[in-house]
Amino acid sequence: MRTQVGIIGAGPAGLTLGRLLENAGVETVVLEARSREYCEARIRAGVLEQGVVDLFDEAGVGERMRREGLVHHGISLQFDGERHRIPMSDLTGGRTIVVYGQTEVTKDLIAARVASGLPLLFEAEGVGVEALETARPAIRYRHGGVEQTLECDVIAACDGFHGIGRQSMPAGVLREFSREYPYGWLGILAAVAPSVDEVVYSHTERGFALLSMRSPTRSRYYLQCASNEDLAAWPDERIWEELRSRTAVDGWTLAEGPVLEKGVTGMRSYVCEPLRHGRLFLAGDAAHIVPPTGAKGLNLAIQDVRLLGEALVRWYESRDDSLLEAYSDACLRRVWRCEHFSWWMTTMLHLPPGADPFDLQLQRSQLRYVTTSQAQARALAENYVGLERV
Ligand code: APR
Ligand code: PHB
Repeated sequence: MRTQVGIIGAGPAGLTLGRLLENAGVETVVLEARSREYCEARIRAGVLEQGVVDLFDEAGVGERMRREGLVHHGISLQFDGERHRIPMSDLTGGRTIVVYGQTEVTKDLIAARVASGLPLLFEAEGVGVEALETARPAIRYRHGGVEQTLECDVIAACDGFHGIGRQSMPAGVLREFSREYPYGWLGILAAVAPSVDEVVYSHTERGFALLSMRSPTRSRYYLQCASNEDLAAWPDERIWEELRSRTAVDGWTLAEGPVLEKGVTGMRSYVCEPLRHGRLFLAGDAAHIVPPTGAKGLNLAIQDVRLLGEALVRWYESRDDSLLEAYSDACLRRVWRCEHFSWWMTTMLHLPPGADPFDLQLQRSQLRYVTTSQAQARALAENYVGLERV
């Protein structure tokens, strides 16, 4: 099989790249290791930046997001038992975020590709890439028990943190940067109307908690826990009790409901540089991970493929490779801004194991500053809604 751009991975990055190239008349094949059912059921983050919402709209895949997504104009930071609203739209010239699950984004992108009748192979696992330094690179993949080869002009590795793209870079090409955090998140999806109308990030001496949502009837809540926390130790009643305790404010109660899903995720920061070797380009989680505080993971993945899509279209239209040459550095500027923002939000809000009173006072002081100084609040807001220029 032969195509112009071979895309490994049908997560948000790979599917969005496929859509952007489709709209520009560039041929792609998307290879995905998992089944369609698996990809459409994975529960992940749910906050879209304004720029990402606009891109989905322009790409013709934003219709259900516009209908069902919840537009938010602010978030709240809670500490010392009080909530403080950051009016993000007022601080950013009217920009907003949309709460719409990554699961739904993925379903919409898959449906659009299937409707266009373009190749999207599920249960097709990439096992290797070759000839990266030539004009005819190829992806070896296994589909239906048979190993096959997809020849391309360019390979886009959108295959997530555990994919083969990054691992196929020759030794010595990549420089890696990483940090593990000594805590994780226990997340639940509950069948109950959200008790808040905007996202709340709460700092307490018992650890961090986050109140979010997916729809008018689905709440998404998180608790800071150990990175290897045993879910068996968390029956629903214990989760609700801990959520109540970490989000309590006077005159407000947390409504409870059936827990539909629960899971634990560890937290890490990771970046590799550069995002390109020969004809292989990395995008999304394949190249970088942020901790979820600040909700940047999905947004960064989409910003990468926006740049990669533009660069490839320019190259196919005029054989001008200047944007492809600039791709890695251009992405990394935004990646590092988001790495810093996510690290900052994470360390400001989570209780480090063994925290002493000095640590807690520093966090409280920072939170008080962010919620009382307009300059500080604006800095948070412009990062949260997504910087237009980095
Ligand atoms: N061959 C084919 N597909 C693969 C392979 C492989 N060898 N390895 C991984 N994949 C697939 C995975 O099954 C997954 O569907 O690549 C896809 C990668 O998708 P994501 O992990 O969702 O990554 P990305 O598209 O970059 O989206 C980033 O996802 O993890 C969240 O928080 C993160 O929101 C961010 C977003
Ligand atoms: C979510 O709704 O899943 C969510 C919201 C905000 C975050 C992270 C996750 O910072």
